[in-house]
Amino acid sequence: MIDDVVSAALSVVIALVVAFPLAKPFKRHPWVFYGVAIAVVFIHLWYRFTGVYVASLQRFVDILTKGYLAAALFAVVMFTGTMDERSRLRRQLQPIRAELSILSFVLALDHVIVFLPTYLPRLGSIFAHSPVIAMSLTVALLLTVLYAVLSVTSVRVLRVRIPYRTWKALQRSSYLMVGLLWLHIVLALGRSAFGGHGSLAAQVAFGSYTVVTVVYVMLRVRKAVYDRRAHDEVRSEAAAYVRANVTETPIPSVESQDRQA
Ligand code: HEM
Repeated sequence: MIDDVVSAALSVVIALVVAFPLAKPFKRHPWVFYGVAIAVVFIHLWYRFTGVYVASLQRFVDILTKGYLAAALFAVVMFTGTMDERSRLRRQLQPIRAELSILSFVLALDHVIVFLPTYLPRLGSIFAHSPVIAMSLTVALLLTVLYAVLSVTSVRVLRVRIPYRTWKALQRSSYLMVGLLWLHIVLALGRSAFGGHGSLAAQVAFGSYTVVTVVYVMLRVRKAVYDRRAHDEVRSEAAAYVRANVTETPIPSVESQDRQA
């Protein structure tokens, strides 16, 4: 349990270090960061599948295997969307949002590659006899596909080739991802948190992800209400301006224009 809290806290710290002190080099050379992430994932998976276990490195391994760092980076991306466009924090994070999302996906691949093979050999029996696990797996797969699509379409060379409206619609599905991630955690951890011998670690993880999701939804709804109000104000001011100008300087009629000519 303490190990999990330390790993989760470490993940939040790493995500914030990338988002703040390292923001400039990250924006300038994102491929260096992606390369490091790919190398770390590769080395970890190599050791894992060849059966090497180093107890002292477990906290670092959990950061990857349990999806903590991927989730922390994804949280930075999503919470940025709840901030006022003019705020300093938003202006700091907005330029690296796409890069953070790609980095998050690369790191999440470790978690996917660790867990997915444990289900594959019994896929048939899972879908035939275990509806909850089948649902959990379906949600996990949907989440992974959506995550991949959103990240790949964030790569700049691809992004500029996609029509803006299509790209914008795709990016909106990141809200669906928040829901799917929460549902994935409910289904993946629910039994170990609240089943017969519910573990405290799973309960804390379940509670923490739920609180973060609820706070995110509240802040995002607040931002949407604020934006709608600001939009309505601008529209009514524009309408008032048009009304005032149209009544003060009437457009000359065709006849009067003809007379002047
Ligand atoms: C097919 C793909 C996936 C499979 C098979 C899968 C499987 C699992 C399993 C079995 C657990 C429970 C682990 C445990 O009991 O400790 C879990 C938890 C979790 N998964 Fe996934 N997952 C997948 C995709 C993803 C993706 C794309 C993310 C995105 C970040 C993600 C994030 C998480 C998180 C944050 C947890 C909670 C970990 C914890 O606190 O212990 N998963 N997943």
